[in-house]
Amino acid sequence: MNQSVTVRVPAKINLQLAVGPLRPDGYHDLVTVFHAVDLCDEVTVTPAGKDSGQGAGKDSDSDADSVAVSGEGAAEVPADGDNLAVRAVRALRAKAGIAGNVRIRITKRIPVAAGMAGGSADAAGALVACDELWGTGLSAAELSALAAQLGSDVPFALLGGTAVGRGRGEQLSPLAGDSAAMYHWVLAYAEGGLSTPLVYKTLDQLRDGHDVPAPELSDELVEALRAGDPFRLGRALGNDLQAPALSLFPALNETLAAGRALGSLGALVSGSGPTCFFLARDAEHAASLAARMREAGACRSATVATGPAAGASVITTEDATRHG
Ligand code: C5P
Repeated sequence: MNQSVTVRVPAKINLQLAVGPLRPDGYHDLVTVFHAVDLCDEVTVTPAGKDSGQGAGKDSDSDADSVAVSGEGAAEVPADGDNLAVRAVRALRAKAGIAGNVRIRITKRIPVAAGMAGGSADAAGALVACDELWGTGLSAAELSALAAQLGSDVPFALLGGTAVGRGRGEQLSPLAGDSAAMYHWVLAYAEGGLSTPLVYKTLDQLRDGHDVPAPELSDELVEALRAGDPFRLGRALGNDLQAPALSLFPALNETLAAGRALGSLGALVSGSGPTCFFLARDAEHAASLAARMREAGACRSATVATGPAAGASVITTEDATRHG
């Protein structure tokens, strides 16, 4: 069988990100509330060396996995073995005992190095696509364990929805909320990116000499989600990485201030930044907030998104040998 599989995979924001002390392994214990939004990358995998009718070029190399990236920020994404999606394919192939290489095509909408786990999303997308292509028969728990080896945020990109992450962020428990609740967000992209390790390191420096308590889940945030109440949720958002992100990227102060002044229900740096996100009352409010954020010029661009969104999902499976 020679199929081409396409997976859609969401970006995440962290509604809460509580960071504990630095661990001996260089990571930090977290309690975080991940929330998937419907800003998605698409990842397509095709067996290498086969004509999929999509053009070939250097992608037709059958001796190695290849990756081609297009869309938002594509020029900044490594198109070689450093690409997290390629590492995901290799890890799954080794685990499942599969022979044969693949061509990976990534269409990006999630901005790069923006605190929205775009690279992790692509890795999760590649895992799900190859799992489908190869029929590995791995369980969801086995895929999640493999995902955790690739990065702290990769398991959540598989799961989607809203979930509490503990440990490095890889130990997940889905969070029961008002199942009908849909939240309307505005995402404000910044000019340039931030390095996640540098933001964590800056947090450690800002905390130098202070005792750091173990991170704790915000009861108020959980209650707000249970109630499906965007006003309460907006007040309960929190991120320990916001202070170091602002110190490294002071222009974000203006972005957050602009969103607050324009009537958002809550404003926060996303993950390690520099994307900022704002909670709106409803779809109409989100659209007008995004338009006014763009007019205010306090960000590179602004877009609307809704959440919770589904985790990595197969959207098409095509026979790549079909010749019309
Ligand atoms: O797991 P991932 O590769 O995404 O993490 C990137 C970097 O972010 C780590 O090398 C570490 O510096 C920092 N990090 C951390 N604590 C976490 C997650 C990430 O210090 N829980």
